[in-house]
Amino acid sequence: MTGIQELFDLTGRTAIVTGGAGFLGQQFSEALIESGANVVVADINQRIASESAEMLKRNGGEAIGVALDVTEPSSVKQLIVSTLEKYSGIDILVNSAALDPKFESDSKTSHVTSFEEFPLQSWKEALDVNLTGMFLTCQAVAKVMKEGGKGSIINLCSTYGISGPDQRLYESLGEPRLYKPVYYTVSKAGVLGLTKYIATYYEGTEIRCNALTPGGVERDHDPAFKEAYGKRTVLGRMAYPHEMKGAVVFLASEASSYVTGTNLIVDGGWTAW
Ligand SMILES: NC(=O)c1ccc[n+]([C@@H]2O[C@H](COP(=O)([O-])OP(=O)(O)OC[C@H]3O[C@@H](n4cnc5c(N)ncnc54)[C@H](O)[C@@H]3O)[C@@H](O)[C@H]2O)c1
Repeated sequence: MTGIQELFDLTGRTAIVTGGAGFLGQQFSEALIESGANVVVADINQRIASESAEMLKRNGGEAIGVALDVTEPSSVKQLIVSTLEKYSGIDILVNSAALDPKFESDSKTSHVTSFEEFPLQSWKEALDVNLTGMFLTCQAVAKVMKEGGKGSIINLCSTYGISGPDQRLYESLGEPRLYKPVYYTVSKAGVLGLTKYIATYYEGTEIRCNALTPGGVERDHDPAFKEAYGKRTVLGRMAYPHEMKGAVVFLASEASSYVTGTNLIVDGGWTAW
């Protein structure tokens, strides 16, 4: 298989997307379906997971929705059971589930706490989802992949896992003063460590593990924020949601068969300055 179409073709492969009903999770699921994969949309409750799967099916794809709490080992175990009941194996895992509260939505209140006052409980909850949850899904899926000696794991990082957030961007969002929370950078930096550990652990097999690092993706952001953010990137703008689709298919497919332990940064040059 060396033709370029074949290298990107995912026909017959099965992919699990955790956080698959989320903003980017939907893009990842769509991209995998469009490349021929069966997609298991796994998210915090059955309703949103099923709705997303139904949407993918309406567009001609093969998908199921499964309720998943990544922090619960029994729930992760059930995800594997439900997937293998429907499909014959697991070829791709996209770990997109995370606590990543958005500034532009009604979750603004979770951004008002300064570092000095940041609650221990919020720190623990976020590390539990963003890092421990990813560890649990990687562990469970790798066990299945090990049987076939092959698979691709893609862990979602962030530019804020590579460098600290530019808190000046959030200052402009009005009163009270807002901050990107400390757990976000710490958990996303941890994702890179987990990714390298898994990649090297499976030496000598075709089980690959890579990180995918998006920069800020445009949605209903405050226009002043969008402009200020854009100026921090080389391309002068935030990403469009579809601009993450190519990267996930590349890492999931044979097109990246010699790529493991790396971090694919799709950030419009944010980290290149
Ligand atoms: N959107 C961006 O601009 C951006 C930028 C850089 C990195 N990222 C990363 O990309 C990934 C996807 O981002 P997004 O914008 O789709 O986020 P999102 O908040 O829209 O989606 C996250 C999803 O995770 C699910 N989730 C939360 N806790 C869970 C749990 N315990 N078990 C299972 N599912 C759970 C939520 O229900 C939600 O559907 C995240 O890891 C995020 O940190 C996003």
